[in-house]
Amino acid sequence: MKILAIETSCDDTGAAVVENGRTVLSNVVASQVPEHILYGGVVPEIASRRHCESISSVAGKALAEAGLSMEDVDAVAVTFAPGLIGALLVGVNFAKGLAYSFGLPLIPVHHLRSHVASNYISSPELEPPFLALIVSGGHTHLVNVIDYTEYEVIGRTRDDAAGEAMDKAARVLGLPYPGGLNLDRVCADGDARKYQFPYPRVDGSPLDFSFSGMKTAVINLVHNMEQKGEEIDVENVGASYMRRIVQVLCDRSEKAIELYKPQRFLIAGGVSANSVLRREMEALCKKHGIRLFKPELKYCGDNAAMVGAQGYYEYLSGNTADLKLNAIASMCMM
Ligand code: KG4
Ligand code: ZN
Repeated sequence: MKILAIETSCDDTGAAVVENGRTVLSNVVASQVPEHILYGGVVPEIASRRHCESISSVAGKALAEAGLSMEDVDAVAVTFAPGLIGALLVGVNFAKGLAYSFGLPLIPVHHLRSHVASNYISSPELEPPFLALIVSGGHTHLVNVIDYTEYEVIGRTRDDAAGEAMDKAARVLGLPYPGGLNLDRVCADGDARKYQFPYPRVDGSPLDFSFSGMKTAVINLVHNMEQKGEEIDVENVGASYMRRIVQVLCDRSEKAIELYKPQRFLIAGGVSANSVLRREMEALCKKHGIRLFKPELKYCGDNAAMVGAQGYYEYLSGNTADLKLNAIASMCMM
């Protein structure tokens, strides 16, 4: 079954053709980084406009690279929630139009479910059940994945997501957007023990996260350095901060592993590209004798291939939509 998938939840316009949930025939992403870099972050209104301008050509390119025409496609899948509402709407309406004109099934895909599915592409032998740590710009979730379309969220952030915390630190350290990626590039080899950041805990909820206090701590640290006229120690502040975030992510993951005793653990979402997280999660899973699955770097950030992968399993479980499908800005993944 060949699915044409569309992804426009944030600032990447994506289209891909994926066969049977596992084989990527094409994957096209039109990045908006050069424009949002001017503002230091994603400007939602600009993101929607750029999606409108490029979605048609991006989808055409995905078909061309797969060597297919719409007549060869069996279904259209689209990210419908959660995300920037104006951005999601572009993809949802484009997918509805395509499905209607070619008489194809329309498959709504939840963004976090598709991040999990990026691992089905990178590791074709992977099957549920497993535990997943999903870390993106908007979410930090620990999830018990019981089956392809059955999930139990067992931990979540109470305030900011890990990606948002990375982006904020990058910004105060003067690193350009996309912050998390540049923090990783510039600071991965710094002295991660030079600065102490608070260790956030959520009372009574051992699997939950909180990153807002860490954001405040890094802002205060940098402001103090500025007020004293000191040069900002970007590399070592960034390294210490990343180490702390990764430590929290790994500690909660370890607690979840002890409680749920899974045979497999996976990471997904934009922050799963982080070099420190990938290294430390590998060590953690080795310690517990379980296998770690991680997406290839090209499938960590938002892309349509992962939407096509999850779309296949949504279709198999009977999850299709009619033309009343709407975009939803915030929605739990179950
Ligand atoms: O999944 P994603 O592409 O979009 C959302 O669904 O939010 O995740 C984007 C987040 C951003 O916060 C970005 O800074 C972060 O992922 N990110 C990273 C790295 N690459 C992307 N954070 C840390 N290290 C990286 N290498
Ligand atoms: Zn994402």
